[in-house]
Amino acid sequence: MLLKILAVGDVVGEGGQDILSRRLPALRDMAGAHFAVVNGENASGVGITPAQARRMFEAGADVITLGNHTWNRIQIGDFLDKNDNILRPANYAGRVPGRGMGVYQCQGLRIAVLNLMGRTNLNSNLDNPFKSASHLLNHGEFDIALVDFHAEATSEKGAMGWYLDGRVQAVWGTHTHVPTADCQILPKGTGFVTDLGMTGPVRSVLGIKPENSINLFMGGLPRRYEEAEGSCKLNACLFTIDTEKKKCQEVRRLDLEE
Ligand SMILES: [Fe+2]
Ligand SMILES: [Fe+2]
Repeated sequence: MLLKILAVGDVVGEGGQDILSRRLPALRDMAGAHFAVVNGENASGVGITPAQARRMFEAGADVITLGNHTWNRIQIGDFLDKNDNILRPANYAGRVPGRGMGVYQCQGLRIAVLNLMGRTNLNSNLDNPFKSASHLLNHGEFDIALVDFHAEATSEKGAMGWYLDGRVQAVWGTHTHVPTADCQILPKGTGFVTDLGMTGPVRSVLGIKPENSINLFMGGLPRRYEEAEGSCKLNACLFTIDTEKKKCQEVRRLDLEE
């Protein structure tokens, strides 16, 4: 069969959650998506609360992935332990709550979702994400595997796509909040895009008020980031996977702007 996977870029703040709730159900229908993975690390601006995670599940996220802002709302810790459908990066070096990989039933298939975080220019204590990916994939039991690689450097994301080519059916990048125009099928059949982009305010710097960002780069005193106002967009990609051949057949962008 052709399995369609919708991957949605980092949902930022109230505006991002709002457009996700209003538009995701129809987008899933229109695309014929069987399964949706949504990055939720910025639901609170930085971090996500259990209530925000529940709201994303209600909107139609089958799995929520996270990233470097996983612990900004520390009350999510317990929720990560108790809920199999929300993942934090698998390669935290320390002992942290939750899990980085889950296997979910969909269309009679076991779909593995793996959340990993890059090490280039991300200030966290992390194990090597390439070795972590290999280890988890070698020890898991599943039919189809999908990877959200939350990383800053386009080079690290590209390297991960090629490293996992043929071993998983899709690798997409998150974290930079800027969508990339490089949807492709790698030689051994893995669908890849460097970054999904974000789901949040259009007129912003990565979802926050431009003046907050300018202040930072001008050397101003640190201030709390505020979510930008105005209309929002939803950045996503659709991966079509041939489940018999275990190869991705098509990757395309599915972006909405209001
Ligand atoms: Fe983010
Ligand atoms: Fe991030």
